[in-house]
Amino acid sequence: MSQQYESILAVLKKHQQEHILAGYANLEPQQQEKLLGELAQLDFESLDDLISQYVRQRPMTDIPTDLAPAPYYPLTTRSDDWPDSAEQPDYYHRLGSDAVRQGKLAAFTVAGGQGTRLGWNGPKGTYPATVVTGKPLFQCFAEQILAAQEKYDVHIPWYIMTSPLNDATTQAFFIDNNYFGLSRNDVFMFPQGILPSFDAATGRLLLAEADTLAVNPNGHGGSIQALRESGAVEDMIARGIEHISYFQIDNPLVNVIDPLFLGLHLAAPDSSAEMSSKMVPKTDPEEKVGVFCQSAGKTMVIEYSDLPDQYMHQRDEQEKLLFLAGSIAIHLISVSFVEKLTADSKHFALPYHRADKKVPHVDPQTGDRIEPKEPNGVKLEAFVFDAIPLAESSIVMETSRESEFAPIKNAQGTDSPATSHQLQSDRAGTWLESVGISIPRDSDGHVDALLEISPLTALHAEDLDALDDLPSAIKVGEELAI
Ligand code: UD1
Repeated sequence: MSQQYESILAVLKKHQQEHILAGYANLEPQQQEKLLGELAQLDFESLDDLISQYVRQRPMTDIPTDLAPAPYYPLTTRSDDWPDSAEQPDYYHRLGSDAVRQGKLAAFTVAGGQGTRLGWNGPKGTYPATVVTGKPLFQCFAEQILAAQEKYDVHIPWYIMTSPLNDATTQAFFIDNNYFGLSRNDVFMFPQGILPSFDAATGRLLLAEADTLAVNPNGHGGSIQALRESGAVEDMIARGIEHISYFQIDNPLVNVIDPLFLGLHLAAPDSSAEMSSKMVPKTDPEEKVGVFCQSAGKTMVIEYSDLPDQYMHQRDEQEKLLFLAGSIAIHLISVSFVEKLTADSKHFALPYHRADKKVPHVDPQTGDRIEPKEPNGVKLEAFVFDAIPLAESSIVMETSRESEFAPIKNAQGTDSPATSHQLQSDRAGTWLESVGISIPRDSDGHVDALLEISPLTALHAEDLDALDDLPSAIKVGEELAI
């Protein structure tokens, strides 16, 4: 056996993981090399810590005893309710616009998830998302960036976090589509980190194939580390970027460049300009979104699955949900905050969350393939919103669901292509109505037509004013893509 084999085996023995090489002798030389190569990448000291902290025990999310709803800046239509009403939205909007124009803002999409719920065979960003022309999610964002570059006369670099599982296909998709018209130099892709998946009962590593470890992407919280390790932070600093507009791959309506949000993030009296968030009021106490809370003066998100029932259903005197502010996973993050969170390269600042999943695997000893019927494995993921309480002071801004949140997560039911299409048509209808076009609506107030407005045509409703060839009315069921 090779020297590399001997030295890796010694490390594995020290950490009680030697089972993984039980079938080594039966592998082809290339397979042996591959497996040893993967094992050599692992930091077993850190893995031991993770196993004892998250696999051997089932950590509960600590719910602080002083948990309260987080305050938020309400929609600008209610700006009299803003804490400091002397500072009006226009002021923040101007400030944010100036920062965009000065080239201080970058776009950042986390696109490393596996998208298994949607059942789409490919990176989720390649999913045809729009109502009439079926543009892929990546193109929805690319067109917004293109339009904003034109509007603000500036380069807006776009950072995209992929995963080792979808990086090559994502890169190829951009090349095939000529970067959707963006300059290739302004699109920076990098894969996120991975972690081994663990056997839930023993904390042992698992094999996905005879020569391949079972691994999973380390969660969107891993984006903080990956921004640093990929050189993206360095690239941002070289370009003069100071803030990052963070959003998920699943929401075609996200407002990628939002000057008001940026202005508040930069200058609100209660913002340390490190990490800010957008919220929408929850429609239902059990809606599957994280909730903005506060404890000991710090803002935080408690994931829906961790929010105790008593809080989830609590209402105020007006019968309004008390823990109302749902996270739509849209943030502004300063580059210096990313540097602060990643300053200690040995210990990542964010905690991990445990998910018990079915992890198909190969028995190292026999080579038999095992398809578990029940969850047998543990996947660990970090969540980006766990960085919020690490900021000095973090603000939350309300946005309207209709204008900015139409996620595609599931093949059917809630947050599916069908619900997203309706929301996209609804927003397009509202924009068209604002310039005097008559739009058919059903008894629930939803648009009864298939409408699509490209960001290249209008980034906001006001941009439609400039168009003179719009119809005066849309018929029931009509398709319009402009
Ligand atoms: C997420 C949020 C939830 C929020 C909701 C809003 C979490 C745990 N929950 O739920 O609080 O209210 O969105 O829509 O995030 N991703 C990676 N790498 C990974 C894992 C995920 O890049 O390792 C990306 C995905 O590509 C996707 C996003 O993160 O863009 C969301 O991940 P997902 O696990 O689907 O979270 P949700 O359940 O949708």
